[in-house]
Amino acid sequence: MTGRLDGKVALITGGARGQGEAESRLFAAEGATVVLTDILTSEGQTVASEIGGQFHHHDVRDAHSWSSIVKQTLTDHGRIDVLVNNAGIFRIASMADTDQALWDDTIGINQTGVFLGMQTISPSMVENKSGSIINISSIAGLRGAGMAIAYAASKWAVRGMTKSAAQELAASNVRVNSIHPGIIDTPMIDEFDNAGVRQRTVDRIPMGRVAEATDVANLALFLASDESSYCTGSEFVIDGGFTA
Ligand SMILES: NC(=O)c1ccc[n+]([C@@H]2O[C@H](COP(=O)([O-])OP(=O)(O)OC[C@H]3O[C@@H](n4cnc5c(N)ncnc54)[C@H](O)[C@@H]3O)[C@@H](O)[C@H]2O)c1
Repeated sequence: MTGRLDGKVALITGGARGQGEAESRLFAAEGATVVLTDILTSEGQTVASEIGGQFHHHDVRDAHSWSSIVKQTLTDHGRIDVLVNNAGIFRIASMADTDQALWDDTIGINQTGVFLGMQTISPSMVENKSGSIINISSIAGLRGAGMAIAYAASKWAVRGMTKSAAQELAASNVRVNSIHPGIIDTPMIDEFDNAGVRQRTVDRIPMGRVAEATDVANLALFLASDESSYCTGSEFVIDGGFTA
């Protein structure tokens, strides 16, 4: 049976659980060689062994770690066709409660991590004249997020970096798009329970339910595959109508 990603090599950050795990599993099932990275070592190793992929411990804030993982992947597999910049954190905190550590962590992981990923991997894609970079933003990168100002800042930055990188790389046939999920059922949304706002948040979704991680993985699959060969610099919203 032919897969939609046959012959492609995909690197997925934050692949140990949640959406990154769903993307790792789906991409492997569609024929990709998957290299997944995370700070959660045992969960990441389990996913990698179940899908016949590779795991590297990796903090996306660390430029040195990015260089060595990309170098290793190019040595092992010869190319990287797809990068999913998925790793992220989400904390609910008002402006007053956003201390320097929370700000630095959020911007470091959600924004700088995405930049470093694109900066480190794109040269080999440019050389191959082929590649798809998928940056996971959020609906918080399309509108305001009261009580999550650092998160919104980081996700708007992802949207802006995506469009800038798309313009820079388009002539080399390297595509860069952002995905903007609404509320997805992963460990991340425990934060809504911690803040006591889960039901109120779900009530604002026109479709009346949260999405599964596999819903986002299916969209990422389209962007990773050649089916999306004319899509670049675009925002793909998947939110059950939240921002409609
Ligand atoms: N769940 C949602 O409702 C939702 C909505 C919009 C956007 N998103 C975005 O989707 C992406 C995936 O989130 P998720 O829902 O799967 O949440 P999740 O918390 O289940 O997964 C996030 C993953 O990122 C990893 N990670 C965190 N810090 C890291 C670091 N410094 N280096 C490397 N890996 C790190 C975590 O260990 C985890 O495996 C994130 O970018 C998130 O902001 C999620």
